[in-house]
Amino acid sequence: MSGFDLGGVDRTVLRGLVGKSALLTTDLDQAELSTVLTLAQLFADIDFAGVKLPLFEQELAYAVFFDNSTRTKSAWAGAAARLGMRPVIVDGSSTQVAHGETAAETGAMLGMNSHAMGVRHDLILGEGNTFMREVKRGIDDYLRDSGDPRRMPLVNLQCDIDHPTQTLADAAWLREYFPDGVEGKRIAVSWAYSPSYAKPLSVPQGLAMLLPRLGAHVRMAYPPGYRLLDSAMDAAASGARESGGSFEVFEGEGAMDAAFEDAHVVYPKSWGPHSLMLDRVEANRAGDQARMNEIEQACLEQNANHKDWICDERRMALTRDALYMHCLPADIGDEVSEGVMAQHRVNVAREANKKVYVIMALLACAKSNDLVDDLGQILNRQETK
Ligand code: CP
Repeated sequence: MSGFDLGGVDRTVLRGLVGKSALLTTDLDQAELSTVLTLAQLFADIDFAGVKLPLFEQELAYAVFFDNSTRTKSAWAGAAARLGMRPVIVDGSSTQVAHGETAAETGAMLGMNSHAMGVRHDLILGEGNTFMREVKRGIDDYLRDSGDPRRMPLVNLQCDIDHPTQTLADAAWLREYFPDGVEGKRIAVSWAYSPSYAKPLSVPQGLAMLLPRLGAHVRMAYPPGYRLLDSAMDAAASGARESGGSFEVFEGEGAMDAAFEDAHVVYPKSWGPHSLMLDRVEANRAGDQARMNEIEQACLEQNANHKDWICDERRMALTRDALYMHCLPADIGDEVSEGVMAQHRVNVAREANKKVYVIMALLACAKSNDLVDDLGQILNRQETK
């Protein structure tokens, strides 16, 4: 027997995850969520021990990015390689989507050769998640119509609504940082000032949709004009009701301090103003780049009214010696002071590093018919070498 404990992985829950593409964390029920996080930790332990897990050798893992990325690209490549797959990362602007090829057609064409797919499409509200679902439909229709039994999970690498691999990585890091559990912890998710660009809404929305389900008490804070999608706020409230956690929204001046008061964790990051993010939808649909540039400028001007929304030493002193979290990249000196970032630099790197294991878990659950058996065989083989 290997030294890794597969006993905590529920085979019944795993059966429900076979073939599943969770395009929002709310697509996972509570047991599935817990299983993905348990597997992510198991994969991290196995990797740390230097044990290889070639579950899907010679298979192609294709990821298309319609926006910039450092960490998620690296995590996708790292996860695929660790599973024995061959990762390929494509710039979405270099596909034929810009020339009118539909998402479903693109899915079918990319999916006909590959064994897993990731997509990032996060900049325009109302588009990214819909695009992913259409890509998935195109892949599934092609596989069905051609009688191909291949299983092709699609991983959401950030859309307009959610950033599941990020928030699951955040949850995995929280579970490690608080070995006694995330239940009952007070977590401040706050808007913070950024001069760099109008950041998507998906990270704060994803945190709101996920963290209350872990039993945490989540306080969301933002200035007037920065509200998030109603669907995400509704999911946050119902997640809190079901788990015994809670979800509160503080809006306006003083909200960031109020959210930080006695917090065990703070997650201050920027996002774009709500009404201007909606204006982008029409401008993008019309292909009006000049209007898109004007809107971006207006977002940054609106952000600049709130330069005091920074996670600094004064605010951290309001907390219970809180853990600072950020999905990265952070605007140092604007979203967070240099001193706070310096103190938590290793913590945010460890948070980021969880994403590779979350992606491994999502792919392995979706692709293996009997993951416990497959893992057991590989681990035993390596032990007897
Ligand atoms: N946090 C995150 O998703 O980082 P990237 O945008 O660099 O992938």
